[in-house]
Amino acid sequence: MLYKVVKYGDPVLETPAEPVEDFGSDELRQLVEDMFETMYANKGVGLAAPQIGISKRLAVVDTSGGEDPELRRVLINPEISYREGRVVDEEGCLSIPGFRENVSRAQAVVVKSKDIYGNDVDVPAEDLMARAFQHEIDHLNGILFLRHISPLKRDLIKRKIRKLVQAGEWG
Ligand code: NI
Repeated sequence: MLYKVVKYGDPVLETPAEPVEDFGSDELRQLVEDMFETMYANKGVGLAAPQIGISKRLAVVDTSGGEDPELRRVLINPEISYREGRVVDEEGCLSIPGFRENVSRAQAVVVKSKDIYGNDVDVPAEDLMARAFQHEIDHLNGILFLRHISPLKRDLIKRKIRKLVQAGEWG
């Protein structure tokens, strides 16, 4: 099932999400599948549950956009346990479509996560995947990439979005 991706302005995007507890359930398995499907349909490389209006600490990432099953990653109750390096690159967000800005992120990370059965897993990533992990984990803490850019650029984007809202072209 495809979910609608919620856009900037919806309070769920700026609310810290609740830990997942229903490990091993059919509902959790289905939610993960639906999130991959929704992410692919929107041509994203990452999607966090709050972006479909579900305030849970769950995110999916696939930097191949569905081309390579080996690159599918599921992060549940994730925490970054290791960071290395620093790299600035352009970043966007399915909840803030049409806007991309340079964001500084760690080049490599290890994320301490759960799998869908509740087992502890360490998930390493570098470059684009590491960037996606940091972006999605931010989402689970109610943080959008706008938080990482200059106040000037942030205000400009917010003003443009306000105009889109007024024109009925947002949401
Ligand atoms: Ni995003």
